[in-house]
Amino acid sequence: MRVLALNGSARKEWNSATMLRYAAKGAKEAGAEVTLIHLYDLTYKGCTGCHSCKLLDGKSFGRCAMKDDLTAVLTQAIEADVLLMSSPIYFNDVTGMLRAFLERLWFPAITYEKERRPLYPKRVNVGMIFTTNAPGGFYTALYDGLKQTSQWIIGDTEYVDASETLQFADYSKYAASVFDVNARQKRRQEVFPDDCKKAYEMGKRLATPK
Ligand SMILES: Cc1cc2nc3c(=O)[nH]c(=O)nc-3n(C[C@H](O)[C@H](O)[C@H](O)COP(=O)(O)O)c2cc1C
Repeated sequence: MRVLALNGSARKEWNSATMLRYAAKGAKEAGAEVTLIHLYDLTYKGCTGCHSCKLLDGKSFGRCAMKDDLTAVLTQAIEADVLLMSSPIYFNDVTGMLRAFLERLWFPAITYEKERRPLYPKRVNVGMIFTTNAPGGFYTALYDGLKQTSQWIIGDTEYVDASETLQFADYSKYAASVFDVNARQKRRQEVFPDDCKKAYEMGKRLATPK
């Protein structure tokens, strides 16, 4: 099994990346070969609406025609058996970097033909990880929407999330008096390990041959 794990947070050691590593660990323990890529290390744009991917008889039909650091990652994602991704929620959505990746993964696979069957040669199982300041349940509609689109275009999709995460190592250094720091630290110690365990189990489950 080939697993591609994409971290959509700029912070490589924080909440989203930590949970992604747990998911990757689960996948490795299921025997998968895992490649971890930090999207913020790459230089790329979101979909520009060039529509080359929909041009009948075009050389990029069904594939993103843009050439940048994401080009090889898109090929890896399409060829993987499992695609894992993580993102903090930024202003009620995934980060711009993950969103740009998803636009370029999703759009080339769909057409405006009456029969809207996705074009990629095989289905890829997807595991999404989201982390937020907001309380649990706050972004269920967002997550379910992302899952639904992914499920239609890419393959079976599931997600895990962590809410009310620790955002700063030392809250006293930041303008952040709205937070109950003790409650956040307690949650980090008592709840976040369970969130990581759920991510681990998701990675293991998705990478286990059926
Ligand atoms: C630019 C920015 C925007 C954010 N917007 C939201 C938001 O809309 N909702 C929310 O619950 N948390 C928001 N947060 C908090 C992060 O989602 C949260 O701290 C997350 O766990 C950070 O993930 P990381 O540790 O992987 O960077 C925002 C943080 C940043 C930096």
